[in-house]
Amino acid sequence: MSSALNVTHKGILFPNIGYDVETIKFVENEFQLLDDDVLNVTYPKSGTNWMTEILSLIWHNGDPSWVRSSFAWKRSPWLASSNGMKAVLAHPPPRLMVSHLPFQLFPKSFLSSKAKVIYTLRNPKDVLVSFYHLSKFYKGVKDPGTVEEFLEEFLSGNVIFGSWFDHVKSWLEVKGKPNVFFNSYEEMHQDLRGSVEKICRFLGKELNSQQIDSVVENASFQKMKDNPKSNLTTVPDHFFDHKKGKFLRKGIVGDWKNHLTVAQSERFDRVYQEKMQGVNVTFPWD
Ligand code: A3P
Repeated sequence: MSSALNVTHKGILFPNIGYDVETIKFVENEFQLLDDDVLNVTYPKSGTNWMTEILSLIWHNGDPSWVRSSFAWKRSPWLASSNGMKAVLAHPPPRLMVSHLPFQLFPKSFLSSKAKVIYTLRNPKDVLVSFYHLSKFYKGVKDPGTVEEFLEEFLSGNVIFGSWFDHVKSWLEVKGKPNVFFNSYEEMHQDLRGSVEKICRFLGKELNSQQIDSVVENASFQKMKDNPKSNLTTVPDHFFDHKKGKFLRKGIVGDWKNHLTVAQSERFDRVYQEKMQGVNVTFPWD
């Protein structure tokens, strides 16, 4: 378990390594988004790094040399992390960024900019399982304890970046905006090519068929797992305890069935029904 003090802002818990409240407040209130910025936004464990890979490949018209030569966090720095923000501010436009911020903490400048956001969702039960495994080796969060214990923390939003339910609902508020594109892990899993084509259309990037093939091929789970610039195996030991787990773990849909008991799944469903009441959106896992 990490001994550092918790970093929280407006009731949202942040990783206690690599984040500071001053930077988080700066991002929310002062940071200026530019019209040609592209932001990959997710709740943790929803396919963030997968999307970073896809966007990096699209950025270079399917040419994999960038993803093979530059670390993911350099290609697409983390909005609101202390070092990520230094990289963002030093980067000439157009900028690619990644963020787990709920909408209420996202830069206010977004509302008056044409910056593009791709918001990727994933079945929250799979998010929970992936988050549980990450919490065993990521030193920026407390030890998750048992699945049963982590389930309660997850359902009450006592995890980094807050409640899954609140995060998703915060972003659904801006779903209709022309510069916001909603996407899901499950759709990417089912038809990655189709998702890449939709993302290209949203970004106004015209890739030919071979270039799209190359994006799809190089963003596969296996290619990412084999790529040291993308598989996070070189993340320093003060962030990850590499003996305790792997970031690119399984990469499948429905792994929750291997981890949650029937009672835990039913408990999850009850809270889900209650928290998502009134949300008129059909999700891939419904
Ligand atoms: P699992 O832990 O279920 O395997 P994030 O990047 O938001 O932290 O999400 C991590 C999850 O996305 C992990 O899920 C990881 O394996 C999965 N993932 C990463 N790249 C992927 C890919 N190319 N294809 C499928 N899943 C991928």
